[in-house]
Amino acid sequence: METTATALQTDTSYLGLRLPHPFIAGASPFGYRLDTIKRLEDAGCAAVVLHSLFEEQITLGFEGRVRHMDPLDSQFAETLAHFPPASEYPLTPDAYVEHVSRAKAAVKIPIIASLNGTSAESWLRFARIIEQAGADALELNLYDIVTSLATPAAAVETEIVSIVKELKRLLAIPVAVKLPPYFTAFGNVARQLDAAGADGLVLFNRFYQPDIDIKTLEPFAQLELSTSAELLLRLQWVAILHGRVRPSLAVTGGVETPNDGIKAVLAGADVIQMVSALLRHGPAHIDIMRRGLERWMEWHKFSRLDEARGRCSLKRTSDPAAFERGNYIRTLHSWIRA
Ligand SMILES: Cc1cc2nc3c(=O)[nH]c(=O)nc-3n(C[C@H](O)[C@H](O)[C@H](O)COP(=O)(O)O)c2cc1C
Repeated sequence: METTATALQTDTSYLGLRLPHPFIAGASPFGYRLDTIKRLEDAGCAAVVLHSLFEEQITLGFEGRVRHMDPLDSQFAETLAHFPPASEYPLTPDAYVEHVSRAKAAVKIPIIASLNGTSAESWLRFARIIEQAGADALELNLYDIVTSLATPAAAVETEIVSIVKELKRLLAIPVAVKLPPYFTAFGNVARQLDAAGADGLVLFNRFYQPDIDIKTLEPFAQLELSTSAELLLRLQWVAILHGRVRPSLAVTGGVETPNDGIKAVLAGADVIQMVSALLRHGPAHIDIMRRGLERWMEWHKFSRLDEARGRCSLKRTSDPAAFERGNYIRTLHSWIRA
């Protein structure tokens, strides 16, 4: 079959940024250095999310405290021992800002900076400095495990919504919010973030649960790269939200093959962030993803990505809750029949 790749329109819009295709690099060590950011651009990556600058780093650097605790105060020594020392972060807050402006000067693709924190406090003002350094957008990662038994879900939701409101008040650049899936009613959280002005939702954070060493009787952490098995949770929620909230939708987690990327588009994703697959296969993998998407579009005679986006979402399902519940029961029954 004669290729019609040149006629294909794989372009997409994310956070108001026009991108030639939906594959972008998620926050990762690729963002640490200008040469790897350039390699991503040379490989055809549509945009890069830098690694995160953490709330703990900012408050330590500017207020001399981590979560309001003074590292020199012995009563906090045990708690603060859980956090890495300032020297273990790849860049200080000031160096991060400098890095954003150098990255912007080094490449033409959009650079999305990343802030990572959990509280609606003064550290957020640092976002303004990142904006002034030239970031095209900001991704806010709200990674938090609420271990307190006294904190109700509503308080957690109020806090994240107020963080987003505060950032939107401070910034003119778009703000994407990277979230965990573990909410009782994630759809309503998405709607609240929409109302707070979020420009994008990034679904979902992976959770790095500590394992337990049965010899030493100690917990230990090990970072395993993802596999496609993790994608389905993301597909499910993108499919539920597509067309029902205003923010752009990004998938992060478990996109390894072109088919994974295609599924994300069919669910309704505007962009697909990749980290594990790029760490495993190198930046050239972006091109494999893009060509796989184009071949599939040709095969289905889609000339524009928009014709495919959201085809498998629940937008046109009259009762999404019945679909999900019915799907659950049918899935259990499929095992009985097998
Ligand atoms: C080595 C490594 C470093 C990461 N650093 C960050 C980070 O600084 N900030 C962040 O929001 N996510 C970070 N992530 C998470 C990724 O951005 C991504 O959400 C996650 O790996 C799931 O995507 P994947 O399945 O494509 O790997 C990191 C992931 C890896 C593997």
